[in-house]
Amino acid sequence: MASQHIGPPLSRRAFLGAVGGSAAWFATGGLGALAGTTLAAKPGGGTRNPLYLPPTVSPAGLGLTAAAGTVPLGGGKTSTAWVYNGSLPGPTIVARTGDRATIALTNGLAQPTTTHWHGMLVDHGNDGHPMEAIGPGGTYAYDFPILNRAALNWYHPHPHMLTGEQVAMGLAGAFIVRDAVEDALGLPGGAYEIPLVLRDTRFDPAGNMQYKPRSGGFEGPIPLINGTLNPKLDVLQTIYRFRALGGSNARIFRLALGNGRPLYLIGNDGGLLASTVQESQIDLAPGERLDLLVDFRGLANGTKVTLRDLRAGWDLLEFNVGDPGPSFTIPTTLSTITPLAGPSAVTRRFSFDGMTKINGREYDMERIDFSVPFGTIERWRFTTSGNAPHPVHVHGASFQVVSRSGGRGRTYSWEQGWKDTVLLEDRETVDVFVRFDAYRGVYLMHCHKLEHEDMGMMSNFEVI
Ligand code: C2O
Ligand code: CU
Ligand code: CU
Repeated sequence: MASQHIGPPLSRRAFLGAVGGSAAWFATGGLGALAGTTLAAKPGGGTRNPLYLPPTVSPAGLGLTAAAGTVPLGGGKTSTAWVYNGSLPGPTIVARTGDRATIALTNGLAQPTTTHWHGMLVDHGNDGHPMEAIGPGGTYAYDFPILNRAALNWYHPHPHMLTGEQVAMGLAGAFIVRDAVEDALGLPGGAYEIPLVLRDTRFDPAGNMQYKPRSGGFEGPIPLINGTLNPKLDVLQTIYRFRALGGSNARIFRLALGNGRPLYLIGNDGGLLASTVQESQIDLAPGERLDLLVDFRGLANGTKVTLRDLRAGWDLLEFNVGDPGPSFTIPTTLSTITPLAGPSAVTRRFSFDGMTKINGREYDMERIDFSVPFGTIERWRFTTSGNAPHPVHVHGASFQVVSRSGGRGRTYSWEQGWKDTVLLEDRETVDVFVRFDAYRGVYLMHCHKLEHEDMGMMSNFEVI
């Protein structure tokens, strides 16, 4: 077992102690850390391993067990991990709008857990709120109608102060929703639609995935794509659809193609955009999703193309181009995004303070910090004075990004449409319009840098 946490969850004091210790270790171990980074800048030099594609499952009558296991990482290498149904990442759940999810979660871990369906519109009892966590050996029956439009959502644990560890140890999976609007576009499907759960990791001397929390956010020196080290994917000369999920605890990726071709951005957290956008590089923060088309047409058989992370200088995934494939097209018009016409005045302000607080307060699971009227459009303003990046995530609704001032001073194409997570860098102020019109009840807003979340940068609110 890679974790030391057997028994009751750490108290906040113990957690902060552990973080402090590791931050001090990091400060004195700067050279070691640097060496690790340099080493990791070269994944791609060695043998490439076939990209793992998790099994696809329906959410109707699904049993999901979170437990320790041993997983293959490619090339004969294995690691202990904490996984859903033995798979890293967990099975890809696929459903259609209007379906019903009936999912029985079993906690096979030695600590409490709960599963949150990030991006899915569900009521409080199905949201995986830390109040609803189950102990070791416990079970939880989720049962909710699928209200979302077509989108890539995801699932991961959300227990009080243990989310960072459980996600870092491997618990996460994709949750794809489909609908008629998406069907009508004839986008690449089947073998031409590939989920990409992007994250980083760190190994202990025995080669097992290891969680070393740092208050500034856990970053590992090695990328893992769908749980595969140094992955490759054989592709045909056609258009592929990649469903990318920012599954790191803290790392932000800057995606680009190594051959200089554009990424065709067609969607993000809340589904399809209004129209296709070409970008040479796109940022993906923890919690965010991207729906991307990549065009391999016209490349000779034998061509290698890489999906790169320009921030770390990593070659995340190598595509090996083969023969000509079926013909798909890149649509220009995608979906209708009805703008939320919100108030010009700010309804609520949220200051992300330090690494542990929102509006000066640490998270208290039993405290409701504010209430929001059901069905009303509000303007929320997120600001930070430092310790960013803070990927700000809201449960219970999608929002629309209105503006960003300070810092980068602009919004990006990948922030159009419907979002549930938006990146806040130092000195930035981001305004969004949001309306909670699915359910009343207690939801969460938090920083999706999971160490910040676990240390208290999270808030309960109630839709009334
Ligand atoms: Cu992806 Cu509240 O989390
Ligand atoms: Cu969420
Ligand atoms: Cu944060």
